[in-house]
Amino acid sequence: MKSTERERLEKQTEKRYLWLRFKNGCKSLKGSKARQYALIAFCVLVILIWVCNKDRFSLENMELVSPAFVALSKLTLPITLIGGTVAILILYGTPIGTGKITNELQRIGLTNSAGETPILTAKTKDEKQSEVTVFEFDGVGIPLTEWENKRQRIEAALNVHIVKLKEGKNKRSILLYTVPAGNQLSSRIEWNDSYLIKDSSTLILGKSLMGTVKVDLAKIPHILLGGSTGSGKSVLLKLLLMQAVKKNAVVSIADFKGGVDFPSIWHSKCKMCFDEDNLSQLLTELVDELQRRKVLFRDNECHNLDEYNKRTGKELQRHIFACDEVAEILDKTGLTKEQKDKVSLIESKLSVIARQGRAFGIHLILATQRPDANILSGQIRNNIDCRVCGRADNVLSQIILDSTAAAEQIPKDAAGRFLLHDGTIFQAFWFDDTDM
Ligand SMILES: Nc1ncnc2c1ncn2[C@@H]1O[C@H](COP(=O)(O)OP(=O)(O)OP(=O)(O)O)[C@@H](O)[C@H]1O
Ligand SMILES: [Mg+2]
Repeated sequence: MKSTERERLEKQTEKRYLWLRFKNGCKSLKGSKARQYALIAFCVLVILIWVCNKDRFSLENMELVSPAFVALSKLTLPITLIGGTVAILILYGTPIGTGKITNELQRIGLTNSAGETPILTAKTKDEKQSEVTVFEFDGVGIPLTEWENKRQRIEAALNVHIVKLKEGKNKRSILLYTVPAGNQLSSRIEWNDSYLIKDSSTLILGKSLMGTVKVDLAKIPHILLGGSTGSGKSVLLKLLLMQAVKKNAVVSIADFKGGVDFPSIWHSKCKMCFDEDNLSQLLTELVDELQRRKVLFRDNECHNLDEYNKRTGKELQRHIFACDEVAEILDKTGLTKEQKDKVSLIESKLSVIARQGRAFGIHLILATQRPDANILSGQIRNNIDCRVCGRADNVLSQIILDSTAAAEQIPKDAAGRFLLHDGTIFQAFWFDDTDM
């Protein structure tokens, strides 16, 4: 890029930043009485100085002064008032340390192709978690993936630990949720029943540096857990299922791994199935239940399970279908035609639940080491919005989260450490099913 072109872009960006800061400054006035008083005090002071020194400022009586200057002298007060107010508002809208942060980002090469660095537009404490500082940047067109790729360098440059990275209200704005660099997630956090949330649809996954990480099945109905062997999928799956059982949901588990993961205590609390015929039967029943609820909800003019239960006073239960290694069921390699047909039938039932289950309170929680397209069809995968990935390589992380973030951010020896689809890193609660 030519230097004149670069200069032109830099000037344009500078103007935009000034405008942004002015807007931020105006916004900051709303929340701060002290800032309002300071601005009023400034205006009063300027007026007082003007009134007391009116004669000195006036050029009217002077000979040899051009009429244009005389006219201009009359505007001194409004110009000082307006100019001063604008300058103060820009100052209010400029977070402390903006220049230093810009320099640090420049040093680690977080720049766009015109060489511009993201500009800090706000630095605030998170409303819910006071130890979390939220940095809001105008990203000058640098995409979120680039921020994710440079996450560790940004952490070192700003001397913070990034808990969450996401886009703000628009594609230009980037939000960094940070805690002081010393804060670390513990490698084992015991589950305690007091953590259980009362409402029937919210399950707890674990703890991030920002607090408890949860998922509301009424909003995000299905969960996909990925991760390499030993990453902690089974423990997390059982943590979720245990909560579902305690919330009076009907839990069905397909266990094709020879029953090692689900000891007998689960058999008394959940519907278990160990072979394809059983599974086919179970999924058919679930889809039938879904169709039955469709009619029921339509007749009662309800949009979803909670509304139906509230309106009719009935207690229709949520159904959760879980499978610990979904590839064990859906992998068709080496199967006969007849076996493949059986798998296709299972797949089509899962697809129906994935597409329509939310409103009717029928949910999927699937775990897998490798959900490739030939194992988990796009139809099913695209309808599972809650994606959680543990320790993984680039390929697995890409399949689960559509980015290599889990491979980069989860240490190779971590167990129970997961990355949620929204960029939150958390430690799943350690849960021992012998305590059930
Ligand atoms: N939340 C957790 N906190 C601490 N350690 C954990 C946690 N979850 C799992 N682990 C450790 O990791 C080990 C493996 O966990 P788990 O069996 O759940 O892995 P997995 O992903 O299901 O593996 P596989 O794919 O081989 O079945 C556990 O035995 C435990 O030592
Ligand atoms: Mg497992």
